[in-house]
Amino acid sequence: MKRPIAYLAGTGRGVPSHVMTNHDFAAIGIETSHDWIVERSGIHQRYIAKNGESTCSMGVDAARKAMQRAGVTPGEIDAIILSTAAPDRPLPSTAVSIQAALGATRAAAFDIAAACSGWIYGLTLAEGMIATGSAETILVVGSEKMSAILDWTDRTTCVLFGDGAGAAVIKRSKAHKGILSSFLRSDGTLADLLYRPPTDAPYVKMQGREIFKYAVRSMSEAVDRALDGARLTGNDIDLLVPHQANVRIIEATAKHANVPLEKVFINVDRYGNTSSASVPIALDEAIECGRVKEGTTALLVAFGAGLTWASMVVRF
Ligand code: ACO
Repeated sequence: MKRPIAYLAGTGRGVPSHVMTNHDFAAIGIETSHDWIVERSGIHQRYIAKNGESTCSMGVDAARKAMQRAGVTPGEIDAIILSTAAPDRPLPSTAVSIQAALGATRAAAFDIAAACSGWIYGLTLAEGMIATGSAETILVVGSEKMSAILDWTDRTTCVLFGDGAGAAVIKRSKAHKGILSSFLRSDGTLADLLYRPPTDAPYVKMQGREIFKYAVRSMSEAVDRALDGARLTGNDIDLLVPHQANVRIIEATAKHANVPLEKVFINVDRYGNTSSASVPIALDEAIECGRVKEGTTALLVAFGAGLTWASMVVRF
């Protein structure tokens, strides 16, 4: 097993205070039902940003908690990598807004766009920057105000997503804990399955049933590649933290990985799909509720628009 180059020194999440339940869709004229949404996706509620909450402000909340847990000050941050599909403005990046709010004056800050896989892409990038010596301490944030890019008259998308942010501080590994393997892949020929058109109605459009097929296939490949890279099997995994899009996709992925459901962290019922915030929010909750201990081996796996897919094995 390779000696890890980088480890996750602390995690945090930033979640809006407003909860929208499945029952609340009736009030905005969406013809759906709690039972339909639960049966097809496993989602019961989602958090929605209100009163000025933004991709930046949720990202800052998550970042502050991660930095506090890692014992890192803003001046120690060398880089801020923000994964988002919902930047607060097209130019400049939302990462620089997070940098300014944190006072991380030494940091290089930039956004990446790999949709729901983006936070794992960001971790992999951070590991590479540490490997080359260009950075020692990196903040990787996934923050998504999905509610700003949804068509709230389209029941095939608006019931599935939610807002939130998650973050981790990545540092050079000094022991045997850290990132053991990672895998990134994309297929741009499938971009039309999930996209935002650059029109005056720039909202998420999705072919859900098609995406479902590719999601199971790509998450399965990602699981295999990360396990192979770490020379492990599903039996060695203590905790599976999958992208939280749909409980049926999560169950199929766990089955393929040979990881029993009691070792899978699921919170899609409370958050819906928060795109690139989903894996870091789930990981942060798993850590907070004691499911990650010294020596825990976790498998992170995601897929998203692009299509993109990604995975990582991390030893804590
Ligand atoms: N309420 C009630 N009925 C609905 C709703 C709704 N909100 N939305 C669609 N329906 C209807 C459809 O119109 C359809 O009716 P019809 O048969 O009369 O035409 C019926 O329900 C079945 O629709 P399907 O789309 O076939 O339902 P399916 O079982 O495939 O579930 C879902 C839909 C939940 C979208 C599923 O396909 C899925 O989860 N796909 C993956 C989506 C995903 O993970 N996207 C995120 C990608 S990650 C990222 O980057 C953001």
